[in-house]
Amino acid sequence: MNKPFSQACENNRAPILQVLQPLFESKTCVLEIGSGTGQHAVWFAQNMPSVSWQTSDLKQNHAGIQQWIEAFPAPNLLPPITLDMLANDWPEIVYDGIYSANTAHIMPWDGVVNMVNQGAALLVDGGHFCLYGPMQYNGQLEPQSNRDFDARLRQQASHQGIRDFYKINHLAEKAGLQLQDDHAMPANNRLLIWQKI
Ligand SMILES: C[S@@+](CC[C@H](N)C(=O)[O-])C[C@H]1O[C@@H](n2cnc3c(N)ncnc32)[C@H](O)[C@@H]1O
Repeated sequence: MNKPFSQACENNRAPILQVLQPLFESKTCVLEIGSGTGQHAVWFAQNMPSVSWQTSDLKQNHAGIQQWIEAFPAPNLLPPITLDMLANDWPEIVYDGIYSANTAHIMPWDGVVNMVNQGAALLVDGGHFCLYGPMQYNGQLEPQSNRDFDARLRQQASHQGIRDFYKINHLAEKAGLQLQDDHAMPANNRLLIWQKI
């Protein structure tokens, strides 16, 4: 069976690493929520060898993630754990970093709420929560390509859709996270960085 493959992951992994590396390379253990194919995980683990990279996703994606891990094994790359933002199955350990890409517009809003609240609860003080993906600002979705993407998402499933930055940031602030950066990324994406205070 071929490994699952995302061209977007190939395109965005280097610019994401550029932002994450200075922040994460001094971390011990990072939890990735919604690892998807596993491509980001193998790349970040290779490039930040001192960080234990914990992959996670819904059970149905584990086999694909595992294939990528087997193709690019690294001592700091951990096999996936099942983490469903709509279930109450959070690990009982703490992390000093959390990373999630392209998940907030896919999972239902309740999942986003849990991801931010529970994610913040799992972080040590001073730990960072990094969220990558397209965002809406000031009630406006820009540019047209993001509006088209949002329409396709909502057509696929009514619970999907590009989220509002201010709503996510409001959740984050209530959960004890302080926004440190909001990076503009290629292809009209953002990389939001919060620190637990
Ligand atoms: C578009 S993919 C992004 C995957 C990968 N992070 C990337 O950037 O390519 C969306 C991911 O969100 C995950 N996801 C959807 N609903 C979820 C939920 N309720 N809990 C956890 N992950 C979820 C999917 O399984 C999938 O891996």
